[in-house]
Amino acid sequence: MRPYIICHMLSSVDGKIDGPSLRAVTGSGEYESTGAQLNGDAWVCGRETMQRHFAEDEPFVSKSKRPAGPRDVYVARRAESYAVSIDTLGKLRWSNGDIDGDHLICAVSERAPEDYLSMLQKKGVSYIVIGATSVDLPQAVSQLSEHFGIKTLLLEGGGHINGAFLQAGLVDEVSILLVPGIDGRHDIPAVFDGVSPSRKDAVPLKLKSVEQRKNDALWIRYKVMKQQQ
Ligand SMILES: NC(=O)c1ccc[n+]([C@@H]2O[C@H](COP(=O)([O-])OP(=O)(O)OC[C@H]3O[C@@H](n4cnc5c(N)ncnc54)[C@H](OP(=O)(O)O)[C@@H]3O)[C@@H](O)[C@H]2O)c1
Repeated sequence: MRPYIICHMLSSVDGKIDGPSLRAVTGSGEYESTGAQLNGDAWVCGRETMQRHFAEDEPFVSKSKRPAGPRDVYVARRAESYAVSIDTLGKLRWSNGDIDGDHLICAVSERAPEDYLSMLQKKGVSYIVIGATSVDLPQAVSQLSEHFGIKTLLLEGGGHINGAFLQAGLVDEVSILLVPGIDGRHDIPAVFDGVSPSRKDAVPLKLKSVEQRKNDALWIRYKVMKQQQ
């Protein structure tokens, strides 16, 4: 049992995802309004994206430095919609348990410090501790389904967490808002990034729909075909 997972991203024509560089060629609110049509009851982002856009500026610094080890899932509360952060070592600092009205769930590995988990409890943040050295993504999404009732999860970047979900066979659908701009910079992450170099073949997709949007953007939806692991 796991949620249906749709990767929803804003992308330049060359597959780059640096939001600020694409602002001038993106219609206002288009990423959000296309995303809303996907009817997710949760969205998930990697640590870099959470740090850049949503968490407190200063990272969490552990006093005890004692790894938490295996822990039960902590459900601070159930909600209608959730924001999920994938943060291996428990670095992100949060001021409360909500992001724009979505209840926050932090997925961390057993290496996250125990005082990090205490901080999350104090702030009313739910958490999942899963994976000895890194967050076990298949298990994490199963727990989102089991403990929080999440049915449709929107995977919203950045490129490296998207690549990790893809590599784990956890992406069912790709939803790209392709905007009329070219980035071209080498170091900017792509929609899917960091996948093992041993993977030689592209993951096959099947077109579900394509819609022309304002400002010459295209909203393209693909179903991910069964992958060879
Ligand atoms: N255009 C869009 O729609 C869109 C959407 C979102 C973000 N963005 C942009 O994307 C950029 C950030 O992307 P990014 O690729 O650098 O970072 P990211 O995917 O947001 O985060 C990557 C981090 O997630 C953590 N992580 C935990 N488990 C992981 C796993 N199994 N595999 C991979 N990573 C894992 C790692 O941090 P640890 O060191 O903690 O393990 C890793 O460094 C930002 O510029 C942001 O603005 C664009």
